[in-house]
Amino acid sequence: MSDNQETIAILGGTGDLGTGLAIRWAKAGHKIVIGSRTLDKAQNAVTELQKISPDTQAQAMINQDAAHAGNIVVLTVPFAHQLSTLESVKTALNGKILIDVTVPLVPPAVGKVQLPEGGSAGKRAQDLLGEEVMVVTAFQNIAAHLLQQDVKIECDVLVAGNKKIARDKVIELAGQAGMAGWHAGPIENSAAAEALTSILIQINRRHNISHSGIKIIGQSDD
Ligand SMILES: NC(=O)c1ccc[n+]([C@@H]2O[C@H](COP(=O)([O-])OP(=O)(O)OC[C@H]3O[C@@H](n4cnc5c(N)ncnc54)[C@H](OP(=O)(O)O)[C@@H]3O)[C@@H](O)[C@H]2O)c1
Repeated sequence: MSDNQETIAILGGTGDLGTGLAIRWAKAGHKIVIGSRTLDKAQNAVTELQKISPDTQAQAMINQDAAHAGNIVVLTVPFAHQLSTLESVKTALNGKILIDVTVPLVPPAVGKVQLPEGGSAGKRAQDLLGEEVMVVTAFQNIAAHLLQQDVKIECDVLVAGNKKIARDKVIELAGQAGMAGWHAGPIENSAAAEALTSILIQINRRHNISHSGIKIIGQSDD
């Protein structure tokens, strides 16, 4: 159980990745707000979440209300709807951490790196929202259905963003969800984590494995 309980609003939290993060952060003791374009869909997702984690304090809201309610906001919608969703909640985000998990995959060639204009999904979110919002990108290399299962995840999380204090918080949240998070530097560096997803897709295909991931290794200087 976390000592510092957060209210985490997950926009598009009815989807695969949002559900996985909600399950893990609910189990860690955080309050969860599931955001959706429709209240009905959010309510169904909360019902499902409470079946898995009965003690969860979870609320259902439309995305705009969820963004106001959360002290940390997470964006989990497909790349094609990243900017329009952020536009619709922009005024609620000032002074907050926005965790953006968006991977700019462009079907059908999802195994090919196709970063957007601006350099990365994370950078264009930060450019849209301005420096009043602490955009941090993370979890791009983690499979949603692993998050949804009670399994150990053997993949680290690269955490990029311009403010160290915000990256520290997301690394803490990654740890509470069962993964090691690493400082990956400013928001421009999100490009590397986003691009890596297409490489992991290629590795899964060509080596006939599932859920390839990355581990950061090194020697302590102490
Ligand atoms: N799936 C993975 O394994 C995985 C792994 C790493 C990163 N990611 C990233 O995580 C994000 C979400 O992936 P996902 O697989 O969870 O996606 P998803 O299940 O396909 O969609 C997530 C949610 O996005 C919302 N949405 C759909 N169309 C929308 C629109 N036109 N405008 C606004 N919201 C819309 C829906 O919520 P409502 O209908 O309730 O509004 C939906 O439940 C993506 O950016 C993806 O690149 C995914």
